Amino acid sequence: METQLLISSFLVLAVCFASWGGVESLTKNEDLVNLNKLKLEWKDTVPPNWRASDPCGSHWDGVNCTWNSQVTSLKLSTMGLKGILPSAIGSLSGLETLDVSYNKDLTGSIPSSLGNLINLKIMLMIGCSFSGQIPNELGNLLNLNFLALNSNGFTGAIPPALGNLSQLHWLDLADNQLSGSLPVSNTNENGLDKLHDARHFHLNRNKLTGTISPNLFHSTMKLVHLLLDGNAFTGEIPSTLELVESLEVLRLDRNSLSGSIPSNIRNLRNVSELYLSNNKLNGAVPDLSTLTRLHYLDLSNNSFDPLEIPPWLASLQQLTTIAMENLRFTGEIYHKILELPLLETLNFRNNTLNGTFKVTSNVSRSLVLIDLENNKIIGAQLQKAITVSCRLVGNPACNLESALLWNTSACEPYYKGHSYSTPLTHCRDKICSADSKPNPRTCQCQIPYEGKLKFRAPSFSDLNNASRFMELETTLQTKLGADSVFVRSANFDDQNYLTSEVQIFPVNKTGFRRSEIIGTGFMMGSQNYKAPSSFGTTYFIGDTYFVGNSVPSNSLSSTTIIVLSITAAVLIMMIACMGFYALVQKRRADGEIKLHKPFAGWESKEEQGTSVPNLKGARMFSYMELEKATNRFAQMNEIGSGAYGKVYKGILSGGEMVAIKRANQASLKDRKQFKNEIELLSRVHHRNIVGLLGFCFDKEEQMLVYEYISNGTLRESIHGQTGIRLDWRRRILIALGAAKGLNYLHEFANPPIIHRDVKSTNILLDERLVAMVADFGISRVVSDGGVRAGGQSHVTTQVKGTMGYLDPEYYMTLQLTEKSDIYSFGVVLLELITARPPIERGKNLVQEVKTVLELQGFRGFRHELMDPVLKQSMYITGFENLLNFALCCVEELPENRPSMDIVVKELESIVENERLLNSISTRI
Ligand SMILES: *[C@@H]1O[C@H](CO)[C@@H](O)[C@H](O)[C@H]1NC(C)=O
Ligand SMILES: *[C@@H]1O[C@H](CO)[C@@H](O)[C@H](O)[C@H]1NC(C)=O
Ligand SMILES: *[C@@H]1O[C@H](CO)[C@@H](O)[C@H](O)[C@H]1NC(C)=O
Repeated sequence: METQLLISSFLVLAVCFASWGGVESLTKNEDLVNLNKLKLEWKDTVPPNWRASDPCGSHWDGVNCTWNSQVTSLKLSTMGLKGILPSAIGSLSGLETLDVSYNKDLTGSIPSSLGNLINLKIMLMIGCSFSGQIPNELGNLLNLNFLALNSNGFTGAIPPALGNLSQLHWLDLADNQLSGSLPVSNTNENGLDKLHDARHFHLNRNKLTGTISPNLFHSTMKLVHLLLDGNAFTGEIPSTLELVESLEVLRLDRNSLSGSIPSNIRNLRNVSELYLSNNKLNGAVPDLSTLTRLHYLDLSNNSFDPLEIPPWLASLQQLTTIAMENLRFTGEIYHKILELPLLETLNFRNNTLNGTFKVTSNVSRSLVLIDLENNKIIGAQLQKAITVSCRLVGNPACNLESALLWNTSACEPYYKGHSYSTPLTHCRDKICSADSKPNPRTCQCQIPYEGKLKFRAPSFSDLNNASRFMELETTLQTKLGADSVFVRSANFDDQNYLTSEVQIFPVNKTGFRRSEIIGTGFMMGSQNYKAPSSFGTTYFIGDTYFVGNSVPSNSLSSTTIIVLSITAAVLIMMIACMGFYALVQKRRADGEIKLHKPFAGWESKEEQGTSVPNLKGARMFSYMELEKATNRFAQMNEIGSGAYGKVYKGILSGGEMVAIKRANQASLKDRKQFKNEIELLSRVHHRNIVGLLGFCFDKEEQMLVYEYISNGTLRESIHGQTGIRLDWRRRILIALGAAKGLNYLHEFANPPIIHRDVKSTNILLDERLVAMVADFGISRVVSDGGVRAGGQSHVTTQVKGTMGYLDPEYYMTLQLTEKSDIYSFGVVLLELITARPPIERGKNLVQEVKTVLELQGFRGFRHELMDPVLKQSMYITGFENLLNFALCCVEELPENRPSMDIVVKELESIVENERLLNSISTRI
């Protein structure tokens, strides 16, 4: 009843609005003439509805007028406009907002007539192809608040007259070719020092020269970001910088600044990001312990006096990143620095640090990388269970003679292609036409608004924390009213800018309307969207958006749409409130039981002989927690499925990404079996085995929670579905990793475990492409009813496993031994060499390899069966050895197959040979 009333009242309102909007109004004559000049210049690249005669009356896209028909705003971003900026724009005297951003085909210089637009408040010309000088006349725009001319080809000097713009808040001239020095006021000229209200000076990545004048800075300034990096400034860092106490981000890196760092920089207590790297700074590094908000400190590549790692570093509790490359540091690494609570990356490459160091369990939980390449470290103690990557290449500790670390991952070359992309596993096979792409959330084909999103000073350096990017996506989606937003290929460029690609998908329709694109472009250009604070300032460069013909034209008037959406929103809110209330009530009840008796469920069934599981490190999750982590087991979070049920990706409340395996009804185990399984899995810890983090046994559900392995399955990478290219060396390293994991299960797990389902989709690749063996869903404990005789053991079971990988002996005798895993592993080795699935069009890979080798030898094999990707590379050493060895693994009689132990040794020697031969060939 109430809702009906609501709807009808909105409809009445809608009718009123619609009829009011329909009244014709005539554009002011002068504006009409000028707009027609723009139309003439840009020809058929203007929106189709510009054909109508009256811009204000018939609503030209991007043109807004006042009640008395004066044009006040032109928002024309992302339209594919082509031509120059006609000087007629300067005659639209009522203009307050001008946005022509993201039109890559707009060229030429800015007409000086723009200086006549004295009402202008916002001027955005981001990411076009403008060139020439920035006209001095812009200094007449006394009401200008926001000026963004970044990412064009402007040349010449920064006009001193910009110093007149006393209202200016935001000045962005970055990514141009500007030259000359920074204008500072004197008796007859103005300068940037007069911009007392400005919060942002983004002048980075130009060709500016000269010194940074001490007169640029005053205590009345409110500057928050000062970005002068990537220019050619010389001279000293002025000590007057300390006057600008509001500064939070200071980037002076990549210039030719000399002299010492002024010690009063310690008074800039609000600074959270300080980049002074790649200059010619010398003298002593001042004590910066007062900068307690510092997140990011980069002093790399300067010429400071040689020193030891300063002790004050360990007092800066907010640090996430310390970069001190190539600074002639001596002495040892002290442990306190590794204990900084938020530390993610420690980079001391190319110094002369010596001694040994320890990574113990008290190192920062967020630490991902300790980079000590090319120092004089002689040894390191890396506690096993810790996941920090250490890079020690180029240290005595990695020398072959020292034999301490040389074959650990710490001495392997680093995998550089690291980046973050939201996984799109789910609609991989979906094919969409032309411009449209599958929306990863729904798999619907839509035309997304795409572009580059760049961050100039992020306060973190770890790209593995997915929750950070998901937060970014959610905030964008909410702000832009999109169906979903996806971030791809986020990585740091060589100037420490974080760059990424975004796709913004529309709600429930094929594509965006032009007015929506204009709105989104403007919102991004005018900094109306603020990224989560750890990302720092953001800028966006939109790709041209072609509004397709398939998009339904305005069939509903926009007011009706607004009214309908308000109504819908109200309804949704009411429903959501009711749902929320119910949920809270229920949670309260559940919570009370849980708090008092976390294992209540286990204890009540004590009579069945099952007690609370005895777990090592695995934790118990509630159904609620996992429901929340997977967004109610949403389909978009599904990353795999099988007979046992489905696997979901999830994010725990702490930000940790996990994979959750949820048993379906048919594969629920009885309490005792489930308990045995998690007890067993929780005892398995190995670098090449996907670790169990916990489980859930709650509300008739059985779930296992594993660590999330970011690069998907080996199968996907072999078949080129992930964009990862596996070269020969990487393939043998992966084989070795997987063999080590399986060897651990066979030889060292207590009791020993037979995997029973070794295959390329059960070998996952982590972010550094290290192989991780997964899924012991059907593993069998050897002692569990099995017999051990003469070093061999077997268990009689039902046949389980996957066709193509299945040991024929096991299939026939039902006698399961470790040798069954060896057979399956041999098939995986053949897959690595041929990139073919084990059964293809009815042909069995093992048989086919044997036949081809028999009839045509290695040459024939190379020609017929070898993965074409491998054929292209020059050095493939050990290929014949590996192929022969793979054939031993798939011998028909189990006793002719090697043990896992031997497999590991053989693969190690193949890897080592490859390493030696390759290092010789690269030296030549
Ligand atoms: C420093 O930051 C704090 C908190 O963000 C703020 O309240 C304070 O005004 C800032 N100090 C200056 C001098 O701007
Ligand atoms: C490390 O280097 C410092 C300074 O060069 C030296 O005094 C010290 O003896 C060295 N320590 C070791 C363990 O070599
Ligand atoms: C991941 O990022 C979030 C912020 O988005 C943070 O709260 C969380 O602590 C981070 N997790 C780790 C493991 O660093």
